[in-house]
Amino acid sequence: MPQITDIKGFAFDLDGVLADTARFHSQAWQQIALKLAIPWTERLEAGIKGIDRAASIALILNSVHRYDEFTAAEINQLMQEKNQIYNEYITTLTPKDVLPGIYQLLVELKQHGFPMSVASASRNAPAIIARLGIADFFTGIVDPAKVSAGKPAPDIFLEAAQILELQPAQVIGVEDSSAGVASIHAAGETSLGIGPEAFQAQIHFDNTAELSLTSIEAKLKSLH
Ligand code: G6P
Ligand code: MG
Repeated sequence: MPQITDIKGFAFDLDGVLADTARFHSQAWQQIALKLAIPWTERLEAGIKGIDRAASIALILNSVHRYDEFTAAEINQLMQEKNQIYNEYITTLTPKDVLPGIYQLLVELKQHGFPMSVASASRNAPAIIARLGIADFFTGIVDPAKVSAGKPAPDIFLEAAQILELQPAQVIGVEDSSAGVASIHAAGETSLGIGPEAFQAQIHFDNTAELSLTSIEAKLKSLH
């Protein structure tokens, strides 16, 4: 387990970590499911977190064994519809939608010289980060279109470390989803999990309001 002195940078997931946008993804997918008369379950609610658009629609259709009913063009259409609904939701975002404690944490990490990147599977990440008014904190945002595999594969978090010009072992990845924590582990980074679905993370917090350099350092120490 690394010490805080081994850590040189942070890679943040976006939805459910920097902002409360996971509920918008969920609401948009629920509308698609409703249209297809597919029941929305807790399993779908948790399962769509962290995974990309194509994996999400596959999960939803497979939950009722109907994936094979749809052509590739129809699946594309469903993904586009979901993204349209999602884009309407995110036009309402302002800096007030940054999750509790996150702005202060970004300020603190910046003051202490930690470079930061955004490790999200979302193609909407740059627009959301701009709307939240936090773009200046980040060295860069991973472009999920340029990585070959989404979470739980390591690609997104590996790219996030590369943006920071750091080795994965020098990076803490911050996630709220189970697929995201798996991606951090596969990349060889230290995982910081937030909330019930990220319980497999090496260090864990119930919510973002608990995050600070001091609380992170304390949890890292307690693991030794
Ligand atoms: C994040 C969210 C997922 C979402 C994915 C793709 O990982 O947690 O729920 O499916 O991004 O987002 P996009 O905005 O590209 O559809
Ligand atoms: Mg997330």
